[in-house]
Amino acid sequence: MSIVIENVIEQMTLEEKASLCSGRNFWETKPIERLFIPSIMMTDGPHGLRKQNGDADHVGLHDSVPATCFPSGSALASSWNTDLLFAVGSALGRECQTHGVGILLGPAVNLKRSPLCGRNFEYFSEDPYLASRLATHHILGVQSQGVGTSIKHFAANNQEHRRMSTSAVIDTRTLHELYLASFEYAIKQAKPWTVMCAYNRLNGTYCAEHDELLTTILRDTWGFDGFVVSDWGAVNNRVEGILAGLDLEMPGNGGFNDANIVKAVNEGKLSMKALDDAVRNLLRIIDKVIQNRQSDTTYSQEEHHQLARQVASECMVLLKNDRDILPLQKDGSLGLIGAFAKTPRYQGGGSSHVHPTKLVSSYDAILEEVGDAVEIHYAQGYLPDSDDLDANLLEEAIAVAQKVDRVVLFIGLPERYESEGFDRLHLDIPDNHIKLLEQIAKVQTNIVVVLSNGAPIEMPWIDHATAILEGYLSGQAVGQAVADLLFGIVNPSGKLAETFPQKLHHNPSHLNFPGDGDEVIYHEGVFIGYRYYEAKSIKPLFPFGHGLSYTTFSYDHIEVNQQQISDQDTLTVAVTVSNTGNYKGKEIIQLYVHDHQTTVNRPLKELKGFTKIELAPGEQKTVSFTLDKRSFAYFDTDLNDWQVQTGDFSLYAGPSSDTLPLVCTVHVTATKAKPVVFHKNSTLGDLLDHPIVSPVVTQMMRSYGQEMGLFDDLKDNPEMMQAMMRNMPLRGILHFAGGKISEEQLEQMIDMVNGLIR
Ligand code: BGC
Repeated sequence: MSIVIENVIEQMTLEEKASLCSGRNFWETKPIERLFIPSIMMTDGPHGLRKQNGDADHVGLHDSVPATCFPSGSALASSWNTDLLFAVGSALGRECQTHGVGILLGPAVNLKRSPLCGRNFEYFSEDPYLASRLATHHILGVQSQGVGTSIKHFAANNQEHRRMSTSAVIDTRTLHELYLASFEYAIKQAKPWTVMCAYNRLNGTYCAEHDELLTTILRDTWGFDGFVVSDWGAVNNRVEGILAGLDLEMPGNGGFNDANIVKAVNEGKLSMKALDDAVRNLLRIIDKVIQNRQSDTTYSQEEHHQLARQVASECMVLLKNDRDILPLQKDGSLGLIGAFAKTPRYQGGGSSHVHPTKLVSSYDAILEEVGDAVEIHYAQGYLPDSDDLDANLLEEAIAVAQKVDRVVLFIGLPERYESEGFDRLHLDIPDNHIKLLEQIAKVQTNIVVVLSNGAPIEMPWIDHATAILEGYLSGQAVGQAVADLLFGIVNPSGKLAETFPQKLHHNPSHLNFPGDGDEVIYHEGVFIGYRYYEAKSIKPLFPFGHGLSYTTFSYDHIEVNQQQISDQDTLTVAVTVSNTGNYKGKEIIQLYVHDHQTTVNRPLKELKGFTKIELAPGEQKTVSFTLDKRSFAYFDTDLNDWQVQTGDFSLYAGPSSDTLPLVCTVHVTATKAKPVVFHKNSTLGDLLDHPIVSPVVTQMMRSYGQEMGLFDDLKDNPEMMQAMMRNMPLRGILHFAGGKISEEQLEQMIDMVNGLIR
């Protein structure tokens, strides 16, 4: 039965309305039986279902129903495969239906400002274009099964340190171009049923009571029509929250905030209309959940496991492959060294922790893959719970390394190094992992390192590794995916969705992460990730978009369908790529845009398109991208809107942000000029840069100059004088003219130029 919303609102008492605005426990909304309003259930997310049994509270992180643990955010993002994200979403949706869950708490799209953020493993990328596209397909997938999503954490929750109190201080342009943009496209295109507001403050105001964020931007500008839920415990002032657009407080508050809402209405501090708006948003989604409930849904754990395996093998990134040591041949002997081979690190700690339906280690999967064809030797190498070197384990590992033809070494970050709740302090892996590699390298020259970690690490040891497979935290089928890739059953096709810096201190947020006290100032502005490393010519360890394959691709041709467009047009860019190697493989083609004539401080290039295709050896394909106004625009703070500056833009296509062999240029004309009004403090340069005003002013300068000898000095040192003139406010002309031009005449001149552009 569907809820007749306006009718129900009319019948609800003030107390009932207030009570609907908070949970009845950790995971459910309150039912109102008198009015047939049912309760709905929400659970984590994002890459697996964490439905806790019975009354288990938030802290019982590991006590949840078995569910498929898919690769976590940073891994999923490395697939750059929107179809896979949709498939994972659909599978998650089915598992939710099976367990009576109405809303999955994810995806998580906060940007990776610093590689230290403890929760980066859950987040997609440092690039908002990529993050929002992947989120869109995740959401569409889940919601295709009649289950809602909760895109989170809105907004600027980019660190764990003091996450419930710190204020992210971000300038308007950066906020829109980066930290909001990662939500914007997904919210507009995929229409998540709910949005989860972040714990932190944004420019001083708690996100949970941020009117501009939750109402002006989210609802009025982006058209969001679901409900906003607080992150668990994010509410500071419940009444302010309702006023700002926070509809649901989670988890339940034991009644005290419900009473605060009632009191505020009675005292006239909160209008009934504002409360009704929240109730209406909630009822709409509660109704949607009920209408879409499919109580007879089941799913095949084995099918979902196989999907997890396929996804994991598309997520892992082949960072290095010297001497083409990979793929491994199925012969000779192989040492599997490192505790992670048998007890994999495959997911992150905290609220996203899933109780997997099964777990396959690399050791078991490799044994199964090679059968009797390869002689396998195993050594644990290090104690997973300690950073100390264990002499016996080391000795055993060296003995194995010595007697085999090649070694696969499993190292990375243990869970105690990275998790929700705290940030890392450095980018190192444990010392005993490094020492193990160093010692093995003394007796073995063929070393394949398989990494398990949720976020970038430093690799001072890189020269000891012949090949490196970045496994990320790739879910319950991790072992099978590793085996598939190592033996070439699957050709690696993941690429980094984040930069791996050489050193932590190269990162742009380094001097202001995690901030002072309860404030973190985003001094680096729009320059995060590759946007920064490129602008500063700092060579990263591995650039954004990097990832190798067992085959090779050539970038043959780029073409645009028009050389000149207006910012109201769309542009089609065709890119032709061939597989020039010997293996079938998938390639992620990346398209970046560079603004040549910008007068604002923009990154050298920004990702504005990507696609993943499969090519057989010798095969060539042409893919096309569509660019529109947003592909060329920056966020203009005067206009409070997106704006294109007329001029030439380069379009670069290639396999990685630092390797872009194809380039072409397009001229884009802005249809809406930014309104300008000149005044006495506008500079002469401002006038000379204006296409309409410039010729007139140049002419005036010439004639006044000659008549009054005003600019005679220009002749002596023309460059210096011209630069000084350009930066001179118009009022300065009065001084230059030495009384030959009056204040009145200057004002008339300014009126005249303003008249010209009106
Ligand atoms: C996390 C959210 C999560 C919620 C419910 C919070 O601590 O920040 O991402 O969805 O808990 O578990």
